[in-house]
Amino acid sequence: MTEARIDWAADTSRLVDAATADRAWYRTVARELVAPGDRLAVDVGCGGAGMTLALARHMTCGRIVAIDAEPAIVEAARARVHTEWADPRIRIDVALVDIDDVDRIQETVGGHADLVWASAVVHHLGDQQRGIDTLAALLARDGRLALAEGGLPARHLPWDLGVGDPGLELRLHTAEDRWFVRMRAALPGGRPMPYGWDEALRRAGLDPATTVTTLSELPSPLAPPARRAVVNRLANRISRLRHTGLLTAADLQTWDRLLDPADPAWLGDRRDVFLLEARSVHVGRRG
Ligand SMILES: C[S@@+](CC[C@H](N)C(=O)[O-])C[C@H]1O[C@@H](n2cnc3c(N)ncnc32)[C@H](O)[C@@H]1O
Repeated sequence: MTEARIDWAADTSRLVDAATADRAWYRTVARELVAPGDRLAVDVGCGGAGMTLALARHMTCGRIVAIDAEPAIVEAARARVHTEWADPRIRIDVALVDIDDVDRIQETVGGHADLVWASAVVHHLGDQQRGIDTLAALLARDGRLALAEGGLPARHLPWDLGVGDPGLELRLHTAEDRWFVRMRAALPGGRPMPYGWDEALRRAGLDPATTVTTLSELPSPLAPPARRAVVNRLANRISRLRHTGLLTAADLQTWDRLLDPADPAWLGDRRDVFLLEARSVHVGRRG
């Protein structure tokens, strides 16, 4: 069994690919979140700068600060912004969200924010509630903290693939859930947060707090680039679980066939691969 620690630097290209593939979703969410007159937006744990770029497109004034703890990811995010939409209002810095040092992150951000966005970051902090409290402390009056967390895991495959046992994808979700438990258990200062994200926002003093969930759907047959993206995404997920003991040997063998371009069962050749995913964004406002 391997430890569920994440090597973020090794994840860089996956995060850039994901940010690129999710461009439309980021634009839709940014359009809803940005308010006229917003002057400072912060993308925390920016990964491939998906939201950073979307915020820049929707903000008519002000600036966007993106931070990430991993230098290799910051480099890649800067390169992506430079290639896609070099906007001088965007600054991307290496910075750690440290729940014991709110002042430092405030200093890096350089002011009180109208909007703080954190997607899939808070669940990597040992004490999630204190992480949310820390991010809430960055807000200006009327500022919003938006957390992209939860929703429903993506579905891509028919239940019976004709290869291996039916229900393969459901067993992958179960294995990922158990990996998540291990990942959280390995975090320093880990504390349970036995309530929902909107409640966590309210406990951070942000009221009202609401949740909006959007469905992303690409029905089959997928265009070749979308099918490639799905296959790559599944390959990344299997590679993360390969040595954890969380997938059975039989299921791993099936995945290896499905992900091997030389195998007749390769997913890249199937017309029934699809994308169906529900993503939740929880938004709390400072009164
Ligand atoms: C799962 S990725 C999400 C990236 C991006 N927000 C997205 O939704 O695609 C988590 C990101 O948070 C960064 N990260 C993890 N812990 C952090 C911390 N304490 N402070 C700042 N960034 C952190 C990682 O380097 C990584 O880029």
